[in-house]
Amino acid sequence: MNEHDLYSEIRSKVDIVDVVSSYLPLTQKGKNFFGVCPFHDDTNPSMSVSRDLQIYRCFSCGASGNVFNFVMNYEHISFKEALSLLAKRAGVELKGFKIKESVSKNAPLYTIYELAHKFYQNNLNTSYGKEAKVYLKGRGINEDVIKEFEIGLSLKESTVLKDLMLKKGYDLKTLHNLGLVSDDHDTYINRIMFPLHDLEGKVVGFSGRIYDNSNLNKYLNTKETPLFKKGQLLYHYHIAREEVRIKKQVIVMEGFMDVIRASTIGVKNTVALMGTAMTKEQANLIKRLSNDIILCFDGDEAGRHATLVNGDHFVSLGITPKVIALNNDYDPDTYILEKGGEHFQSLIENAISYNDYKIKVLKEGVNLNSEEEVASYIHQVILEASKWNDEIKQEIVLKKLAKEFDMEYNTLEKRLLELTSEKNKESKPSVKESSLPTPKRKNKYDQAILALLYYMLKSDKVVTKCEKEGLFFPLETERVLFSEISYYYKKYGIMNVADFYTYLTDKEELKSLLSEVLAQELNEEVDKNEVDLLFQVVREYNVKEEVNRLQKKIKEEMDPLEKAKIAERIRKLRIGS
Ligand code: CTP
Ligand code: MN
Repeated sequence: MNEHDLYSEIRSKVDIVDVVSSYLPLTQKGKNFFGVCPFHDDTNPSMSVSRDLQIYRCFSCGASGNVFNFVMNYEHISFKEALSLLAKRAGVELKGFKIKESVSKNAPLYTIYELAHKFYQNNLNTSYGKEAKVYLKGRGINEDVIKEFEIGLSLKESTVLKDLMLKKGYDLKTLHNLGLVSDDHDTYINRIMFPLHDLEGKVVGFSGRIYDNSNLNKYLNTKETPLFKKGQLLYHYHIAREEVRIKKQVIVMEGFMDVIRASTIGVKNTVALMGTAMTKEQANLIKRLSNDIILCFDGDEAGRHATLVNGDHFVSLGITPKVIALNNDYDPDTYILEKGGEHFQSLIENAISYNDYKIKVLKEGVNLNSEEEVASYIHQVILEASKWNDEIKQEIVLKKLAKEFDMEYNTLEKRLLELTSEKNKESKPSVKESSLPTPKRKNKYDQAILALLYYMLKSDKVVTKCEKEGLFFPLETERVLFSEISYYYKKYGIMNVADFYTYLTDKEELKSLLSEVLAQELNEEVDKNEVDLLFQVVREYNVKEEVNRLQKKIKEEMDPLEKAKIAERIRKLRIGS
């Protein structure tokens, strides 16, 4: 069996509708299934999944592909990993097959980070690393942890890495761009190095911590580069992904030392924001890991603030997270060190709902002797409660309030109803369809070409006809897709669009054009008359374009004889001979 057949077999043994619905709910409408697209920020069901074609497509963001593409994009894994995951599901044995990893254009850059990473790791084990090891040991970081988190060391001499890389033939500009060299020296000098990974687990940057008493910035992170975008990744994501699957829960922390410490007590379903405000992308990544989210930030004022901001963010995404509120300025790292793993485990088990946390925070600092402050507090609590979709919970909280402040339940309920109806009024104007982009207007030539490509996917006769006539497509992607379709028929005999997506691998432009082609509402069967008509339209277009080109040429031509020749060609083109 060749690779193509293997991919095709695995693909056809799993149903894309089943696979996608194991990640998100789908509802059937007509022939297709619809769900909320996980690849952009949305609450409308703009993604359709076709059981017939075994492909998916989002009408809003354009994401599309077959079951491999879906799993790769959803899980942020490579083709190889998606293949083995789906092979398992399909019950297909992969042994004996060497699967090629697709090579991205950034491959050389990853190699450089890998080299730097090896260099740093090695330093820590040489005599240069003695002091750093003492520091790490002092913080309770032993050899196992150093290995697990691939911790390294940058050296005191300021150009060792630069010199090493130059000797290996890498140029200074690239090293600058990757953030490994700054000005004329290494970026990282005498720091304990923590590698930062992208979502797939490749090293794409570093955070370096001082370990002597110098008063430099505590942590120095790789600057934003084409590979390292801090707001789009999470520390420990690639490891947490597996752990979350088992524990069905994800814990979000502030710093990577917190994550590292938690790992030492067996809590590995953790990610860290690395000290920045959570971005939309990060929130979506976390949400996709699990709906059971625990926020566990530092016990200081900044940590409390982060809990409130990020808690609200998740609520706006439709998830009420849980909260572990540390006190006394603990962070997870120091808490575990001081109190031990069992105590932390029990904090996890007793994490409170974000709603309760918020009410608790609202009460802090309220002067119970001030009627105004009490009234404002009660209002705030009811305002919070009005955001919940849980009447029982609302009643419990209101009853508690009534009892605590000796008030009539009805007074509180009246306020709740007022606030709820206000909230509903506010949220009305956001009409559903609005997030769908208005489609680009296409002229009849563009339409004809898209339609021809569509019929080519249905029958190779259309491809052959196109080749024979030498029809010309104005856009590069159209021409390339056409030639890929033609090649695919020649190689595999028949067209299967889902397998064709696999064949196109990471050629995103082609896949997106292919999706556009397939999204057309055209006949299932190839109608010869219709195809003839399309050919005529494209031919006319080709002639028009050629005439335009020649007319331009004729204007620029000085030689009257040449001019006459061109004029004759234009005449012939126009009468169609
Ligand atoms: N951070 C940073 N630059 C700094 C300080 C912090 O990038 N100057 C980021 C780091 O990713 C760090 C996170 O913010 O992991 C949390 O900061 P902090 O709580 O200060 O770090 P700790 O985890 O407490 O680190 P340590 O225990 O080593 O002091
Ligand atoms: Mn901290």
